[in-house]
Amino acid sequence: MIPDLGFPPLDSDHRHLLEMLEDLIRVAESSADADLLEDQSLEVTASLESHFAKEERMLEEVQDPSRLLHAALHADLLERMARLTGAQLTALGPLGAKDVLEAVAQDLIAEIAKFDVPAVPAILKLQKS
Ligand SMILES: [Fe+2]
Ligand SMILES: [Fe+2]
Repeated sequence: MIPDLGFPPLDSDHRHLLEMLEDLIRVAESSADADLLEDQSLEVTASLESHFAKEERMLEEVQDPSRLLHAALHADLLERMARLTGAQLTALGPLGAKDVLEAVAQDLIAEIAKFDVPAVPAILKLQKS
């Protein structure tokens, strides 16, 4: 289950990111070629990067006290995902790639749950002004 923050712009990003990861897991499981895995893995990494940057901007704008800790969680996930290149996923084999990608998806869900929901009203207020 993806935690619902009650903040549609981030909630829809989260659903989309997890769908992309699930697609990549399906491709990795079906022994796809390294080029296809590489394309999809780069796409996931780029989408994660832009989502994390968006969230970090929001948290920075409202000077959220947990923003540095939260950004560190982002950096860790991004680094792990960036290492999972097409070549790496191919080398892990279908089951190994599935396991490692599922662990990233689970940790992304845990990371989403750590977003500071009490910051949402301040973010909304700032966006309206
Ligand atoms: Fe997020
Ligand atoms: Fe986050």
